[in-house]
Amino acid sequence: MDFSLSEEHEMIRDAAREFAQNELLPGVIERDEKQHFPKELIKKMGEMGFLGMMAPTEFGGGGMDTISYVLVMEELSKIDASASVIVSVNNSLVNYGLAEYGSQEQKEKYLSKLTTGEKLGAFCLSEPEAGSDATSQRTTAIDKGDYYILNGTKNWITNGGSADYYLVIAQTDKEKKHRGINAFIVEKDWEGFEIGPKEQKLGIRGSDTHSLIFNDVKVPKENRIGEDGFGFKFAMKTLSGGRIGIAAQALGIASGAYELALDYSKQRKAFGTEICNHQAIAFKLADMYTEIEAARHLVMKAAWQKDQKQNYDLASSMAKLYASKVAMDVTVEAVQVHGGNGFVKEYHVERLMRDAKITQIYEGTSEIQKIVISRSIIDN
Ligand code: CAA
Ligand code: FAD
Repeated sequence: MDFSLSEEHEMIRDAAREFAQNELLPGVIERDEKQHFPKELIKKMGEMGFLGMMAPTEFGGGGMDTISYVLVMEELSKIDASASVIVSVNNSLVNYGLAEYGSQEQKEKYLSKLTTGEKLGAFCLSEPEAGSDATSQRTTAIDKGDYYILNGTKNWITNGGSADYYLVIAQTDKEKKHRGINAFIVEKDWEGFEIGPKEQKLGIRGSDTHSLIFNDVKVPKENRIGEDGFGFKFAMKTLSGGRIGIAAQALGIASGAYELALDYSKQRKAFGTEICNHQAIAFKLADMYTEIEAARHLVMKAAWQKDQKQNYDLASSMAKLYASKVAMDVTVEAVQVHGGNGFVKEYHVERLMRDAKITQIYEGTSEIQKIVISRSIIDN
């Protein structure tokens, strides 16, 4: 068993760390305040290769492993989780979905543009009445022979207003329940596709979250992903990998807050000494560090299992469940270590605390992860 990173992994991590410091940190407070989507950073993240990390090189991707991906996700999320969720959705939901299950034509037409940042992707499963209960899709895709007609509304879609290509899950045959669901590639400028207003959010405020409305959108049959009825499995399989990315995001948010708290505790003095010399603060730091290390092991193990082509459904749910809890716990404590300064924007920890919350909600809430975990351990 070897827990050390390879030289290549260290280089990738260091490049992401440097990018986050130089490119994401300036302006992160303003983007959060103004809910500004960092369009100007997409190009730079594309140039760094962050938007197509694991996709095959043949389609412009980096051909990298999942360990590299989680290292990048952690480093970007330490500074700006709104930017890292763009990386996460593009890589582990959209690119992965197309690379793994798309046709050769779909990969050539769509994937090769998504991997470079030339185009941006979105993944559209959730609906007003089908969030956790994802098989209850109300959006319909009626088979008309050479094409489908798409009608319905999707909710809370990340990159919703800024993406070019949307992977949309919809119900084709209600009688067949989840086996009648399909997944499609929809282009932004197609007739009948409307983008709803931007959501006003607690955290990841730089991320662009919208509802989407489909009114008789004509989708060519060649834009269906996989066999007829594969859509729900497509979503579940894709989300298994996506959850590793969000777990890494949570890990990054926690690590970022911990590093800030550690530095602050060594500088701030109270009662004649640096506050880290007070045991109450030192023990908080000890708990944070231990929890982060435990989360990191779960995240890395899930990534490793995926790279080893082992089943990683259970591992990814455990990593997301635990890392997101650690992100919440650690960020709340980081604010406490900062005292009053923790409550103001310029110290960053209040933003990290707000950003942490979403990691317990999207890509399956913590309760849903417990359903996946409990079913898996009880069934085996
Ligand atoms: N891989 C392959 N197939 C899977 C699977 C997996 N990981 N998980 C389930 N399935 C299959 C099952 O085998 C079953 O198919 P068969 O009947 O043919 O065997 C089918 O899917 C239905 O499975 P269940 O009976 O388990 O379905 P369920 O209704 O009990 O729901 C659930 C299962 C795990 C709760 C699922 O609905 C779920 O994951 N819900 C959460 C949805 C979610 O994560 N949404 C995230 C949206 S994207 C997002 O949030 C992005 C972002 O923010 C950035
Ligand atoms: P509900 O399903 O209504 O759940 C409400 C509460 O009930 C939760 O606590 C939940 O855990 C609990 N609950 C529900 N069912 C059960 C059960 N069986 N057992 C125990 N507890 C249960 N979706 C996309 O498809 N694409 C995206 O890009 C995307 N991005 C998002 C970005 C943001 C900022 C947000 C807020 C959401 C995003 N989502 C996206 C949607 C997200 O995946 C859903 O919000 C999430 O899956 C939960 O669904 P819901 O909001 O309908 O909550």
